[in-house]
Formats: sequence, structure tokens, C-alpha cells
Amino acid sequence: MSGACLQSGQSGRRAALIPAAGSGERLGLGPKALVEVGGLTLLERAVRALSPHVDEVLVALAPGMERALPPLNARTVLGGSSRQESVLNLLRATEAEVVLVHDAARPFLGAALVEGLLEAVHETGAATAALPCADTLVRAHGGRWAALVDRENTWAVQTPQVFSRELLLAAHERALREGWSATDDAGLIVRAGGEVRLVPGDARLFKVTTPGDLALARAFAGTWDGEART
Ligand code: C5P
Repeated sequence: MSGACLQSGQSGRRAALIPAAGSGERLGLGPKALVEVGGLTLLERAVRALSPHVDEVLVALAPGMERALPPLNARTVLGGSSRQESVLNLLRATEAEVVLVHDAARPFLGAALVEGLLEAVHETGAATAALPCADTLVRAHGGRWAALVDRENTWAVQTPQVFSRELLLAAHERALREGWSATDDAGLIVRAGGEVRLVPGDARLFKVTTPGDLALARAFAGTWDGEART
């Protein structure tokens, strides 16, 4: 892929895109973005973490969600029936040169990581937060250990993911034409032949998916001051 590389130090407009239109089925508490952790919804936490780094914040919501939200410093867009569709709607609603895509479900996002991603994106037009895997990894079959996966060089991919909007929009439009789906945007870039820089993320950036994750997030929220210190 070519034509979408960003020059380091270039001061194009930046937008944060937050897909938040999911139903939160695995959590079972209604739309997950509206679930509160330490007095703020997951979505408010995402908007607050990203706002200082961008010119505008766009949020994809499911129909009816807006009524249940406190006022947000963000523009809202109608989400789609999948995360991928929600992100495409967000991409089509902004003219920014650089987009930061971040799941509302990851409430503890530090400023240093966002800055690191904004720097790394200049290399190939795509960068994501990711963590080297520390656990033993196996493929399972019927609830039983079937095969060991070599852990060497495996990373668990997180968000935020930062892109040249032109590059990501091209990958999404190709995905739509050719029927590809991926669990995240970096996956679509790779499928389209692009390269994604991995930037070491943080364990505190975990995704709230299950009731266990929510319990962890609520226990941790009181100590969070907006930065992941080592
Ligand atoms: O379900 P999961 O946690 O993987 O969703 C990741 C993110 O994508 C969440 O923030 C969710 O709200 C969002 N999403 C969306 N539109 C959908 C499905 C999920 O914006 N149709």
C-alpha cells in the first residue's frame, strides 16, 4: 500500500473514533459503554482520555443510546451491526488526517501511550498498542488442550490503534467489497497488505468484557489518575 504515509511532525487534524454501539451481551448490563466504573461511564472515560490529544472526538452509538448518556464533548454517529461497520461509519464522518480508534470498553488509557502511538504511526501509517503474551498459549478442541502455540513473538493486540485515515478507509472499503471481516482495524490493514507498528501497551488497558473484568475495573478505578506509571 502506498500514498498514505505520514510525515513525522506533520500537523494534520486528528480525530478520535470510539466505537461504542455494542450491546454488551457478555456483561449482561445493557449497552456496555454506559456501564459505570468509579462514577463515570466507560464511554466518558474513553472520551476524557482521548480529548486532549485530538481536534475532535466521534462516538458511534446504537439507536436510542444517546438518550441515556450524560452530555459528551463528542460528535455522535449511528453505529452499525458490527464493530467493523461502526468504525466505517465513523471514518466516513471525519476529514481528519490521523484517526485514533479506541474501544469504549478499555477505560484506563494513559496519555504517554497515546503520544507514543501518535509518534509511531508516522512509520507505516498504522500503529497499535499491544502486549507481549506472558501466559502459555494453547489451541483447544472440545474443551481439551489440543496443541501448544509457540509463545515466542506473540502479542495480544489492544486499542488504541492509530492510522492515516486515508489508509484505513481504503482498507475498510476493500473489506466491504471483498467481504472480509476482522476483529479490529489493524487486522484489516494487514489483510490489505499494509504494515502495523506494535507499540508496547499496558496491562491496565485491559478490556471490560466479563463480570470479572468489571469487578477488576471497579476495584482499580479509585487509584487511576489518568496515567499508567510503571
Ligand atoms: O464486543 P466488543 O467488546 O468486542 O466490542 C468492541 C467495541 O466495539 C465496543 O466498544 C463496542 O461498543 C463496539 N461495537 C460497536 N458496534 C457494534 C459492536 C461493537 O461500536 N455493532
